Amino acid sequence: MNVDVILGLQWGDEGKGKIVDYLASQYDIVARFQGGPNAGHTLKFDGKKHVLHTIPSGIFRKNLINLIGNGVVIDPITLAKEIQNLIDANVDYKDRLLVARKAHLILPTHRYLDAVSEAAKGKEKIGSTLKGIGPTYMDKTGRNGLRVGDIMADDFKEKYQTLRAKHLSLVQVYPPFEGFDLAAEEAKWFESLEVLRSLKKVDGEYFINQAINDNKKILAEGAQGSMLDIDFGTYPYVTSSNTVTAGVCNGLGIAPSKIGEVIGITKAYCTRVGGGPFPTELFDDTGDFLRKEGMEFGATTGRPRRCGWIDLPQLKYTIMLNGVTQLVITKIDVLNKFESISAATHYHYDGANHEQLPYDLTAKKIEPVLKGFPGWLSSLDAVEEYDDLPATAKSFIAALEDRLGVPASMISTGPERHKLIMKSTQAVH
Ligand code: GDP
Ligand code: IMO
Ligand code: MG
Repeated sequence: MNVDVILGLQWGDEGKGKIVDYLASQYDIVARFQGGPNAGHTLKFDGKKHVLHTIPSGIFRKNLINLIGNGVVIDPITLAKEIQNLIDANVDYKDRLLVARKAHLILPTHRYLDAVSEAAKGKEKIGSTLKGIGPTYMDKTGRNGLRVGDIMADDFKEKYQTLRAKHLSLVQVYPPFEGFDLAAEEAKWFESLEVLRSLKKVDGEYFINQAINDNKKILAEGAQGSMLDIDFGTYPYVTSSNTVTAGVCNGLGIAPSKIGEVIGITKAYCTRVGGGPFPTELFDDTGDFLRKEGMEFGATTGRPRRCGWIDLPQLKYTIMLNGVTQLVITKIDVLNKFESISAATHYHYDGANHEQLPYDLTAKKIEPVLKGFPGWLSSLDAVEEYDDLPATAKSFIAALEDRLGVPASMISTGPERHKLIMKSTQAVH
């Protein structure tokens, strides 16, 4: 099996970027398969921080191909900014960054529509990143979208104008909205389109299958988290793509039989940004302390993230959906100053304890049943070997593995690339 998968098991921001960047050197290709610039993947090495939104997190590793797959939606404006950041960082990306022709384009009017529809939702708003994700995927499934491959065609401008006109008539359905400068955004968009034109395009499905036949190793990089999956997440408080393992097949053109390891990432606690249910959310000082210690502010929007304890029924659900073969537990260092830590083992609703998530997490009054664990009250900075972790940290990890039924292969103890402890030799291959 040539294709391994890294994805988030919670509501996003689990630390996918860091782990992909770390493991990338073991692969020939890193490929994004879904989502768009709603993602913010943070990498830290050599004293510098890099945030990627569209470009796969393998881009900083030499000799490695990075593919933006057909399942991704691309905003040329964000992509051009990311390319500029690579140029500024002296990264030679020209022959290593490929874009699938079947990836869909985010138009300025998609962002306009995202803004007007969110504003109209009032209190029910999803908390979208307003990057135009929902409207772009709607046009994709509605069979109206524009794709990367279209930008070279003679009639591209006409197709653009047709879609733009449709969007502007849709905008009229919503209450009047100030605050979107369409002319300025379009000018930027067309300027940035030239950057996209200059990048290497491929028929992603042929490219990746050829690579598989040539025995190349591929790492598929997820964006968002499984609880934001369009089918299985906390609908309607989700994103508009399939963030689970199945999305790799559609988003890259890979057969399910080619998938090997599924590396599921979870924080040692839990966060969510935007609206929607979050059973273990903490509204007290403990939640504030987690936010402060974890520096939990969105990598894309800068919004404070909602914080709570790790949620085992939720993780069992996403492990089941994804076929996770190994866990990576990140941000364990954020718990260093906690005298005790909790994990939700069950949900209490309808008068009983349940391990299964109800149909609609919003409709039920869910009380998480918490189990406490002693903390370690020490820094993990100097710890490089699993055995050298404090005993209480090891028993917390062992309890998670035991209850989740999947072994942890790596434990992340800081944002930097090398703050990662290998737990088992089974880490990846
Ligand atoms: P992603 O969207 O899953 O790639 O995650 P984000 O980059 O949005 O958010 C994760 C944040 O946690 C980033 O600021 C990372 O630099 C940081 N991070 C990743 N792993 C660790 C870790 O083990 N400990 C700490 N303290 N921070 C981490
Ligand atoms: P990464 O890849 C965390 C959330 C938004 C909002 C909902 C829908 O960095 O983990 P959208 O813009 O898709 O219409 O927003 O999904 N969301 C994320 N939350 N991390 C992300 O990506 C997210 N991408 C979208 O906050 O609640
Ligand atoms: Mg993120």
